[in-house]
Amino acid sequence: MGLRSSWEAHVLPRIMDRSLRDPITHPWREFACGQAHGEVLELGFAAGLNLRFYPAAVHRVLAIEPADLAWALAERRIDRARSARPALEVARIGLDGARVDLPDRSVDAVVSTWTMCSIPDLTSALAEVRRLLRPGGELRFAEHGLSPDADVARRQRRYQRWWTPVAGGCHLTRDFPALLDAAGFDVDIAHREYAMPGNLSRPWSWMLRGTATPR
Ligand SMILES: C[S@@+](CC[C@H](N)C(=O)[O-])C[C@H]1O[C@@H](n2cnc3c(N)ncnc32)[C@H](O)[C@@H]1O
Repeated sequence: MGLRSSWEAHVLPRIMDRSLRDPITHPWREFACGQAHGEVLELGFAAGLNLRFYPAAVHRVLAIEPADLAWALAERRIDRARSARPALEVARIGLDGARVDLPDRSVDAVVSTWTMCSIPDLTSALAEVRRLLRPGGELRFAEHGLSPDADVARRQRRYQRWWTPVAGGCHLTRDFPALLDAAGFDVDIAHREYAMPGNLSRPWSWMLRGTATPR
């Protein structure tokens, strides 16, 4: 196993689990998960930090997560969620959002929180989202992406080269409204802001949350 894959398999899931627990993420998670219902496909389930934000109207969470360690770390959160709500089912059904082994039109919502930045083949993943959503379903997301401010965007492009291998394939420069539009979605951005204080954090902290509905 190479250095990068060892880092991604054995270290990064723990760092993600700690850093993404921050209460700063809560309104973003509430938006992405709180209006979902029925069967939800979650891209990049990681250690299950979204579980507590799903309402009772969600009865099944189908998780896509490549990192076995993240899935192992999720176990106690899944147990806790299921003891509070025994009818809730949570299952890991795949390793890559670009190839999902589910029939067409089989989920009511797809949730992605800070995952679309890391999926290598995002074009195929968005095609899968379109294929899998039932009529009336939507992709609900909270992501960080390309800043509209030229100086920050310049820093994002500069940092990209070292950031992507360190951060599990994460991209700083994805323009999600444009990418979702090009993939055939109507996009509604509910909120966008620099979600962390300070100029230094800006390349990472430009966040947007919204919904995308297949046209
Ligand atoms: C920054 S973490 C976000 C984790 C989680 N969604 C959250 O909100 O805390 C990105 C996650 O995407 C996962 N990931 C990476 N490549 C992926 C892919 N091709 N398909 C689905 N998930 C992927 C990583 O393993 C990691 O768990």
